[in-house]
Amino acid sequence: MTNIKLLGRDAINKIAAGEVIERPASVVKELVENSIDAGATKILVEVAEGGKGLIRVTDDGSGMDREDALLAFERHATSKIREADDLERISTLGFRGEALSSIASVAETVELVTKLRSGGIDAVGTMVRVEGGRVVDVRDVGAPAGTSIEVRGLFKNVPARRKYLKSGRAELAKIVEVVTSYAVIHHQVSFELFSGEKTIFKSVRSESWNDPLLRIFGREVARNLVPIEGEGRNVSVAGAAGRENVTRSSPDWIMTYVNGRFVRSRSLTRAVSEAYRTLIPTGRHPIAVVSLRIDPSQVDVNVHPAKMEVRFLREDEVVAMVTDSIRLSLSQAGVVASAAPVAKPLQPTVLGTPVEGTEAEEMGGGYSPIPGGSVSSEGSDLQRTLPLASGRSRFALELAAEPLPGGLRVLGQALQLYIVAEGPEGLVLVDQHAAAERIRYEILSKKYASDTISQELIEPVTLELSPKEVVLLEEWGSTLAEMGFDVQPFGKNAYTVRSVPAIGWRLDSPGAVHDVLMDLFALGKVGTEATAKEEILKLLACRGSIKAGHEMGWKEMHDLLRALSSCASPRTCPHGRPTAVTLSPAELEKIFGRR
Ligand SMILES: Nc1ncnc2c1ncn2[C@@H]1O[C@H](COP(=O)(O)OP(=O)(O)O)[C@@H](O)[C@H]1O
Ligand SMILES: [Mg+2]
Repeated sequence: MTNIKLLGRDAINKIAAGEVIERPASVVKELVENSIDAGATKILVEVAEGGKGLIRVTDDGSGMDREDALLAFERHATSKIREADDLERISTLGFRGEALSSIASVAETVELVTKLRSGGIDAVGTMVRVEGGRVVDVRDVGAPAGTSIEVRGLFKNVPARRKYLKSGRAELAKIVEVVTSYAVIHHQVSFELFSGEKTIFKSVRSESWNDPLLRIFGREVARNLVPIEGEGRNVSVAGAAGRENVTRSSPDWIMTYVNGRFVRSRSLTRAVSEAYRTLIPTGRHPIAVVSLRIDPSQVDVNVHPAKMEVRFLREDEVVAMVTDSIRLSLSQAGVVASAAPVAKPLQPTVLGTPVEGTEAEEMGGGYSPIPGGSVSSEGSDLQRTLPLASGRSRFALELAAEPLPGGLRVLGQALQLYIVAEGPEGLVLVDQHAAAERIRYEILSKKYASDTISQELIEPVTLELSPKEVVLLEEWGSTLAEMGFDVQPFGKNAYTVRSVPAIGWRLDSPGAVHDVLMDLFALGKVGTEATAKEEILKLLACRGSIKAGHEMGWKEMHDLLRALSSCASPRTCPHGRPTAVTLSPAELEKIFGRR
């Protein structure tokens, strides 16, 4: 008796499709790639319900004759390579002949209408209709030259996958990312993305990527991009790199391409980040477009089902070339690393007395959001190492004499991360970030509960959002309003922000507001409304709190410990990690082998 059986065609296709087609944006990616491969000059992407209901991609490319239109749905049917050796010299975006058959197997219906562009005026179009992976209808139809593929009911027949899809707007955001990414690199093609009666993104055919970049990033960022250019063995790089003053809180805006293909490449992202080391603060990321042209034999694009990853034969060379090119362009544009240590924006220097603190203090009134920017007088008494009795300033001695709750006495700060203190129970180490987060979190929760979380900005701030961010903003609209944001549309992709949550530091620059919004969007919608708000409060608390690596003055350490002790749950940070550990004399003795 045998247990092993070959799977049926339908099962095989669905399994393969699972790898290629993860979500609606994967369908859009595959269809757009096909249109680009077909030499289109115009690509229209229409979606409904974030692609879950409908995806239609229409191009003016080569089109297909009747025979090809039918073959296109066969698995491993491709016009782009002929034999295994061709994998060494792939110049098209597609090559596996898997996309259409995969899409067809996980969609309710797929309808293809196509007409050969080279067919002349006598050519007729062909319509192929596929239901549940099977061709159910083929006939001649009148059609313009080019191809239109319509996908309905994606994953209707794969409930396990459908369950994992996000809300329509969240899926739409991913689609926007795919379309805008391709619009940048294939700027010779005009793109339009249409959803729910609205044009979400539109670009025109142009000679350079300046037009799509302007439409994606807005004027402010576009003005701050410098061109990059470089050449190596069998490889060249072109692109645009943001100056040090336009950064983001996530590396999402490092857009990398290899031979016209949008890829997520860790090595390329690293190459870009490396160019900015010492130029921008750690934790910040540049905006950059990096387009690599490389001899196809030097790169393997066949390593990932969705063709999103690549492997370079000489990775180190490529990485170094990219880093050097960006550095050179930046320095030619007058961007040079400053001698002063790089400031980390968006972190308060001092917590003040957060619990009973006045509104002005909590909004960072006297404080600079930039450590090392303007340091408060107490903050200047920084302590790098544990102070010895003789080395203590009078001021520090006075503070140390002041009793802290729980009988704690601060000894100093260690590793720019822990407050070292002594208490009745032994040696106490307090994680400064965890403690600060706990304190902020409780303040924010109280403010939220009493409806006072919103804080009006002295001057409204205007933001330019990318098309993807616009979609996310709509998705988050009501939650943001409830969390204290007042964000109103102000023409095209611009928004006016009048109030923000009172999170304890200045949120009065477009960059700062932008960052907080991006962080929230990056969270993705979580669970129920209630848990979503919890998560947001935690995030805001984290954002507003001193980080590891920040040197604390004596007063700051004392204020922090005092505020922590008056928290409702002082023992853990909002994420559940401990804020402090105590080493008892007995434990210390054991460590030192005294007992
Ligand atoms: N928009 C299009 N215009 C012209 N031909 C297309 C288009 N989409 C698909 N095709 C044809 O269908 C074939 C199969 O497409 P696909 O399943 O995506 O595989 P691949 O792109 O890897 O070849 C392609 O090789 C191409 O010949
Ligand atoms: Mg393809």
